Amino acid sequence: MKAAVLHEVNKPLVIEDVSLPKPGPREVLIRTSVAGLCHSDLHFMEGLYPHPLPAVLGHESAGVVHVVTCLSVFCGTCDNCTTGRPVLCTDTSVKMLPGVSNRLSWARSEKLNQFLNLSSFAEQMLVHENAIVKIRKDMPLELAALIGCGVITGYGAVVNTAKVAPGETVVVIGCGGVGMAAINGAQIAGAGRVIAVDTNPAKLQLATKLGATDIVDPRNGDVVQQVRDLTNGGVHHSFEVLGRKETAEQAFAMLAPGGTATIVGMIPFGQKIELHGFDFLRERKMQGSSMGSNHFRVDMPRLVEFYMRGKLHLEDWISAKLKLSEINEGFAAMKAGKTVRSVIVFDA
Ligand code: APR
Ligand code: ZN
Ligand code: ZN
Repeated sequence: MKAAVLHEVNKPLVIEDVSLPKPGPREVLIRTSVAGLCHSDLHFMEGLYPHPLPAVLGHESAGVVHVVTCLSVFCGTCDNCTTGRPVLCTDTSVKMLPGVSNRLSWARSEKLNQFLNLSSFAEQMLVHENAIVKIRKDMPLELAALIGCGVITGYGAVVNTAKVAPGETVVVIGCGGVGMAAINGAQIAGAGRVIAVDTNPAKLQLATKLGATDIVDPRNGDVVQQVRDLTNGGVHHSFEVLGRKETAEQAFAMLAPGGTATIVGMIPFGQKIELHGFDFLRERKMQGSSMGSNHFRVDMPRLVEFYMRGKLHLEDWISAKLKLSEINEGFAAMKAGKTVRSVIVFDA
């Protein structure tokens, strides 16, 4: 089968012939139908996060049998799984660490690494049964794929991690695929004001359609000051959905007393952020969110229902449909900030 292989960081992906064995116990072989291009893939391609190479990237996908995949594969029996936090599963025989999986292979002698136990940029995926969830048959797979990372990550950060309450004020910094899902999630959660921050006017426009009540362009002046002016002194919840030191610090600085900043973006490995110690005196909090603190077997079918009822505007996310051979152009468009989400549609 064909797969897009990352040989070296900062080099284009190369389409190669690779193979998978027959499924073993508790494994499922999936014909990949659609794979989304996520900014996290780009972080790895640019070496901002390490991963053993060569590897087949991709982690936001849907395929046949009619399922959505999730990188939050869980064992179901470890301490974290049994106490309701499967996203933090510690069983590394199921949730294998980078470089461990031997599922992928090719004619060359070197090892080919599976990415996040999935590797969606390939015509087929061999995954653990606990890395997938069945969804209703009438759900289009190209929209379902988006739920697999971007949507669950942004929506879950708002609903599961931060538990935004009706009427609370929310700011989302960075309105890409994940940020848009946070905005749409804030609307579903019944947030009061939802302020979208992005340097791209087209993104701000779309954010308004998805539920943003106010927009802030960092090019019009200090972001923290602009948000303070809009909210009479600060917000209950801020979400950093970009992965930068500067915007993470902004997220904390714009909180009202008692407010919580949730960091969704992947800040480059090794990068430290600086906060004003004084701000903690008024019980401001900063927390991480991993894959939207999901229970994906419950959350993803609910997101499908929200889509079916017109509450989750998945069509608006898709900026481009690409062939696997066009994957590098897709990432170039992401780097240029042009897309919300591009998806690879595999031939049926
Ligand atoms: N302030 C606000 N927004 C900005 C700024 C800035 N200084 N600079 C860029 N942006 C906007 C871009 O215009 C773009 O709309 O941030 C958005 C980033 O979107 P994508 O590149 O589509 O990223 P996405 O896939 O949504 O992922 C965002 O979440 O899960 C993590 O790893 C992922 O760190 C990444 C983050
Ligand atoms: Zn992702
Ligand atoms: Zn577990």
